[in-house]
Amino acid sequence: MRLLVTGGAGFVGSEFVRMTLREHPDDAVVVLDKLTYAGNERNLDPVRNDSRFRFVRGDICDQTLVHELASATDVIVNFAAESHVDRSLEAPGQFILTDVYGTFTLMEAAREARHARFVQVSTDEVYGEVDSGSSVENDPLLPRSPYSASKAGAELLVNAYRASYGFPAVITRGSNTYGPYQYPEKIIPLFITNALDDLPLPIYGDGTAVRDYLHVSEHATGIDTALRRGEVGTDYNLGFGGETSGVTVADAVLRMLEKPAALKQFVRDRPGHDRRYSLDSTRLRAVGWTPHISFEEGLRSTIDWYVDHEEWWRPLKSGEFWDFYRRNYKPADPVGS
Ligand code: NAD
Ligand code: DAU
Repeated sequence: MRLLVTGGAGFVGSEFVRMTLREHPDDAVVVLDKLTYAGNERNLDPVRNDSRFRFVRGDICDQTLVHELASATDVIVNFAAESHVDRSLEAPGQFILTDVYGTFTLMEAAREARHARFVQVSTDEVYGEVDSGSSVENDPLLPRSPYSASKAGAELLVNAYRASYGFPAVITRGSNTYGPYQYPEKIIPLFITNALDDLPLPIYGDGTAVRDYLHVSEHATGIDTALRRGEVGTDYNLGFGGETSGVTVADAVLRMLEKPAALKQFVRDRPGHDRRYSLDSTRLRAVGWTPHISFEEGLRSTIDWYVDHEEWWRPLKSGEFWDFYRRNYKPADPVGS
């Protein structure tokens, strides 16, 4: 199989590329990535000298480029996206361009090239906040942030292409992912790298919102399973099945790094903060995907990775990173206000 992996220089996409080239010796991979602030060619260093690998810097909204690359490959796995909820609250426009229009561009190219399969990498956030129980794939999409609305918009387009053109798409909806090579704006790498520098860990609101943390290696194998064993026209949830609050993440990071609890800092809540997501992943488990890495085990190995790879993350925490940080994090509202 010749795969066009868009967004393959990002966190989950690069793990998927490294895994594909390791596990599927007959496959070849072309990565198309714009290298935004979140993309990093260094994430692909482990496969750079593999003759089955090629990197192209470019935008998924560039029709000419995308058509050329699609015509030389068999499938597209679309990871490319603006992915950070807080940035979508500040500047939604690029999310709509990349996440929605970019997906349209890729689907047009896949259609013209008569690809047999297209994987749209989506998110549990499309279901919106889930008060109780777990989301199943046929639940309505009720996104509440510009990021999740853009991802849901892309999904609706994929559905329209399925119905209108028999477009052979699979959609995966992964839960909160963590592990090596994650840009340090998301909670786990932010808290680890801040703690290593004895900086405060900014916890939104009261810190009780929960997420279902999935190790990136298992997110990648889940997408691989959906690509190779999933049924065209089907959506697949991918979650581990845990519920971990922001305070629990902070406490665990501080405990494992032997740092003081005083580094916990409660800050103003994220506007529209979804309090909980929860996925029922029975459908993908039925075709052979079972995640095993507990939060405790995955967090420990992730911390070890960040301790050992300071040369990877330290240059990222400079300039624009801190400009955004200063704009995003505000003191908590006074109690009773
Ligand atoms: P990321 O921000 O680390 O990587 C996104 C990549 O896309 C970057 O390499 C970036 O340069 C590239 N990109 C952005 N705009 C582009 C464009 N216009 N053209 C080409 N490339 C472009 O994101 P991630 O965390 O790796 O997420 C990857 C995908 O998985 C996204 O679609 C996201 O919605 C989805 N997802 C992520 C998580 C998670 O917790 N990280 C969970 C579920 C789903
Ligand atoms: O659920 C899947 C989604 O997970 C993906 O689709 C997104 O691309 C990915 O960014 C992630 O979204 P979240 O908004 O859930 O992840 P984030 O790490 O930003 O926040 C996780 C939780 O931690 C959330 O409840 C907000 C809280 N948080 C986050 C940050 C960055 C804090 O308390 N402090 C922080 O500084």
